[in-house]
Amino acid sequence: MMRKRLIVGNWKMNGSRESLSELDGIAAAAEAAPEVDVAICPPFTLIERAAARTPALPIGGQDCHAGEKGAFTGCISAGMLVEAGARIVIVGHSERRAAQGETDAQVKAKAEAVIASGLTAIVCVGETEAERDAGEAKARVSAQLSGSLPVAGGDVLVVAYEPRWAIGTGRTPTMEDVGAMHAMIRAMLEDLLGRERAGAVRILYGGSMTGANAADLLAVANVDGGLIGGASLTAAAFVPIIEAAA
Ligand code: G3H
Repeated sequence: MMRKRLIVGNWKMNGSRESLSELDGIAAAAEAAPEVDVAICPPFTLIERAAARTPALPIGGQDCHAGEKGAFTGCISAGMLVEAGARIVIVGHSERRAAQGETDAQVKAKAEAVIASGLTAIVCVGETEAERDAGEAKARVSAQLSGSLPVAGGDVLVVAYEPRWAIGTGRTPTMEDVGAMHAMIRAMLEDLLGRERAGAVRILYGGSMTGANAADLLAVANVDGGLIGGASLTAAAFVPIIEAAA
C-alpha cells in the first residue's frame, strides 16, 4: 500500500511566541509539497496560537493524559488538545518514558484516548544504547509495540521508531539497521492489527534526522517519514527535510 510521507517536528520544551514566525516558512514549504504531510508539535502553551497562525499546517501535542478530566494536576486531556486546535499527539516519547517513567500500558491508554478524541496518535518506541549493544534492540522494540499499540490501526495511528541513543546526538544507525527495524515493525503491525489496518499505519524514523541525511533515511524501505527534534526548530533547518521527502 502506498503511504503518504509524514514529516513531524517535535519542538520539545523549546519555542516562544516569537519563534512561531518559523511556522510561516514551514507552512509555505508544506504547501509547496502537497505529496507530503507536515505537522509541528510545539509546547502546549503555543498550540492555539500556532494553529491560528498557520491554519493549513497541522499542529499537535507532545503528550496527553489518558483520562477525559479530573483531579490530575498539571495534565492535559486529548479533548483539551482538540479544543486548542491540535490534530495529532505524540505519546510515549522516550524522554517521557525515561523521565516520567511512562509504561507501555500508560502509553497505550494515551494513544487510545487520542484516537477516541478524533486525533492521530504517534506512538514512539526505541531501544537504549545498552540494549542495542547487548543485541536486544529488536526484542525491546517488539515488547514496546506489543504493549503500547492501541487496538485501532489505520491512518489515525503512526509509529515512530527512535533509537534513544540517536536522539539529539548527531548519531544515526546504519541504513541497514534502520531498514531491519522498520521491516520488523511493519511485520509486527500486520500481526497485531491485521494486514488492512496495518497497511495505512506510517512508520517514522526519529533521531538526529537533518537536511543532510533525510534523503538517505527516507529512501530506506518502510521509512514513511520522520519525527524531528532539533532540526525542526527553524524553517531553515526543517524545510530541507520537507523537500527531501517530496
Ligand atoms: O521527537 C524527536 C526526536 O526525539 C528526535 O530528536 O531530531 O533532536 O534527534 P532529534
